[in-house]
Amino acid sequence: MGLKRYRYLARIALESLRGNRGMVPPESMIFVGHGDFVKIGNEFRTHLIDLADLRPDSQVLDVGCGIGRMAIPLTDYLTTGEYAGIDIVEKGIVWCQRRITTRFPNFRFIRSDIHNKMYNKRGTTRARDYRFPFEDNRFDVVFLTSVFTHMLPADLEHYADEIARVLKPGGRCLVTFLLRNDESTALVDAGVAQGPMAVNQHVDGPAWTSDPRTPEAVTAYEEGWVLDLFARLGLHLQPPIRYGSWCGRKEFLSFQDIVVVRKAG
Ligand SMILES: C[S@@+](CC[C@H](N)C(=O)[O-])C[C@H]1O[C@@H](n2cnc3c(N)ncnc32)[C@H](O)[C@@H]1O
Repeated sequence: MGLKRYRYLARIALESLRGNRGMVPPESMIFVGHGDFVKIGNEFRTHLIDLADLRPDSQVLDVGCGIGRMAIPLTDYLTTGEYAGIDIVEKGIVWCQRRITTRFPNFRFIRSDIHNKMYNKRGTTRARDYRFPFEDNRFDVVFLTSVFTHMLPADLEHYADEIARVLKPGGRCLVTFLLRNDESTALVDAGVAQGPMAVNQHVDGPAWTSDPRTPEAVTAYEEGWVLDLFARLGLHLQPPIRYGSWCGRKEFLSFQDIVVVRKAG
């Protein structure tokens, strides 16, 4: 048996064991980064429950849902709740609609043709002009995993405003970042953070990157700016920030930094 076939059969066997058969996309379709697709999804299911108080009856919004990495492990958790995922990459949304919504109608996926130099070069709408297609105060939990690490400051600011609008009072938002603070900057400057994580090129205002030609490939943000922005919008930090290993830290919870905020009320 060839290696390719062996890998395929092993994946099917694993998916059957985990109960997610047919929902996990083949490697060739995955555009959301390296690493174990299923393991990372399961990791964030735990973080959403433990850190953002996700419950089986929660109303959830996944901004930048990609190709279902976070949605798949939530399908057997959100029993009476509802999930909405929005993204700008058509093939990811189509996959999720076909493979997830058909089995779990309480999971919806919506695509918008928003420009991003990394993910949707030909997009017609600017993220800073995009209104999330939901009414005010709709969600208990909003989350963004590895999304604000691919967006420019004016777009991020507008998305934060939209998050504040669609969260219910008391609702939580979990966001992953690459945060520039004294510790991470020292590690970056010392060359401990390597490859794309060497975010030492200034982009604009609070944003830094390792790839000035396409800053959306990896975008890091100054921590103080991020926290001020959330505070201005009535999104209060739920400390502690769980710092990640991305810059070469020795103690961490995840790869990226995890910030949880709560809407006042
Ligand atoms: C690294 S992937 C992460 C995907 C997903 N959150 C996950 O963890 O599997 C970044 C995602 O952000 C999406 N994205 C980039 N800009 C966006 C925007 N303005 N609005 C919504 N999604 C966006 C990309 O299309 C891509 O799916």
